[in-house]
Amino acid sequence: MIPGIAEDAVAYLDGTFLPLAEARVSVLDRGFIFGDGVYEVVPVYRRRPFRMAQHLARLARSLGAIRIRNPHDEAGWQALVERLIAAHPYDDQIVYLQVTRGVAKRDHAFPAGDLAPTVFGMSSPFTRPDAAQRDGGLATVSMPDERWLHCEIKSVSLLGNVLARQYAADRGVPEVVMFRDGFLSEGSSSNVWLVKDGVLRAPVKNNLILEGIRYGFIESLAAARGIRFEMRPIARAEVDAADELMLSSATKEILPIVSLDGRPVGAGRPGPVYASLRQGYDEAIG
Ligand code: PDD
Repeated sequence: MIPGIAEDAVAYLDGTFLPLAEARVSVLDRGFIFGDGVYEVVPVYRRRPFRMAQHLARLARSLGAIRIRNPHDEAGWQALVERLIAAHPYDDQIVYLQVTRGVAKRDHAFPAGDLAPTVFGMSSPFTRPDAAQRDGGLATVSMPDERWLHCEIKSVSLLGNVLARQYAADRGVPEVVMFRDGFLSEGSSSNVWLVKDGVLRAPVKNNLILEGIRYGFIESLAAARGIRFEMRPIARAEVDAADELMLSSATKEILPIVSLDGRPVGAGRPGPVYASLRQGYDEAIG
């Protein structure tokens, strides 16, 4: 038994559905040896994947970026995810998909020939952010972004993100806000947003951040709600002077950040732009 894992949890591994606790991959899998693989995290509401097409498009982009052939077309991925959802008793789920380059003799360079990628999927119950997080907001701490320069790839090589998240945990807060060369990048596992004078801002979608599926979604929510949006580099001083900060991810949805390094953000409570985007998010989920 693995703590936190339901005994009836089901996994998909290389063509087979089986109990998650029994799923095994080779120690020579390049995901294990090198972190040579990519992944996706898809939220499921009332048994329906949310923004599935966008998640599959990003998975295809991540695979392309590291030259792993996509093991499934869109319909194939959809069928796999539907079976995973159906195998679990929860209405709201978090589906995790991972593809690694496969099993080969250890050598940094890609193995010659057409290696079969290792394809893995699992699903767990999705506990949506609670009222305390939504209405009370999150405390955060800042830190330098010490990750590599291809953060746009949703890679399973997550050591930089893991250490960042632990930096937050060690300080008793749920997330960090990272800066690279004095400019806002993102959280350890979320995108970060700023509001000043009613204008919503987020860092440029480039190699320095992961473009969250919620990034485009929140852009469209802002447009529909008459909130002006600007994508541009954001200096540390602007973050310190922000009226509102918030973060977004598949699991956190959209949540307000009410303090950074112990100092209140704006009025120190969730602001009106957050409230509007949160309402739009909840409506879209239905
Ligand atoms: N993380 N930036 C980073 C570094 C992330 O890891 C994530 C998501 C995001 C937000 O992306 P999205 O809106 O598509 O969830 C931004 C997932 C949830 C994870 O690793 O568990």
